[in-house]
Amino acid sequence: MAGSVRVVLLGPPGAGKGTQAKWLQERFEACQVSTGDILRKAVAEQTPLGKQAAAYINRGALVPDSLIVDLVAERLKEKDCDKGFVLDGFPRTISQAESLEEILKKMGLALDCVLSVQVPHRVIVERLAGRRTCKGCGALYHLTLDPPSKEGVCDRCGGELYQRDDDREETITARLKVYEAQTAPLVNYYRERGMLREIDGVGKVNEIRSRVLQALGDRGT
Ligand code: AP5
Repeated sequence: MAGSVRVVLLGPPGAGKGTQAKWLQERFEACQVSTGDILRKAVAEQTPLGKQAAAYINRGALVPDSLIVDLVAERLKEKDCDKGFVLDGFPRTISQAESLEEILKKMGLALDCVLSVQVPHRVIVERLAGRRTCKGCGALYHLTLDPPSKEGVCDRCGGELYQRDDDREETITARLKVYEAQTAPLVNYYRERGMLREIDGVGKVNEIRSRVLQALGDRGT
């Protein structure tokens, strides 16, 4: 078993962050901290956080930093993050990146690196339009690129597959604009700090996994 990982997965919607994060979680026994998954769960359960976040998510905008930062700080303190974590969808603004640095400093931790997964727009739209997610275990599928054995049913747990509300074409366009304006600047932010590892996100899921391991260097062996 390889050593622990403490990494950020950075990339536009549909880059494959969730797909790779779920695998890294198993490979390194780390916890996947997906702010998108946490928020969608809160929306489904109609918690106070969910009620505030729903309108932002549905129009493809970012949920305010004030709602996200404390949530991540608390999540990272949970036991299952002791062996490492994969941050998927956080940070998404420079301000969130600065907050993350403070959170980790207080915990006496630091990131190993930031994995920036990049794919062109046409691939993003194809991936998001065909994405299906399991309601039960959160496993990810694609109608044509990675279909389940039985239509609409999860291979892993038999759960029902659904299409995310924010994967409609007009919302995808809005999310891409938000990514370019607010999240893409993080690429340079982490490059300047010598923490960035750039990964070509085009190719088969297994190929991207190999690139991720290579980018992790010693930790990936
Ligand atoms: P979030 O859930 O984080 O969405 P996202 O960043 O837009 O990313 P996605 O989940 O859409 O894509 P992904 O890169 O994980 O791709 P995936 O692996 O699923 O955020 C949703 C919303 O929540 C935001 O818009 C915002 O409102 C809010 N939010 C979340 N975090 C926030 C924060 N920190 N601050 C403020 N607001 C926040 O793959 C996509 C599809 O492609 C799948 O079908 C998959 O099977 C397929 N696929 C993946 N890899 C490959 C491959 N190599 N080849 C073929 N198919 C592939």
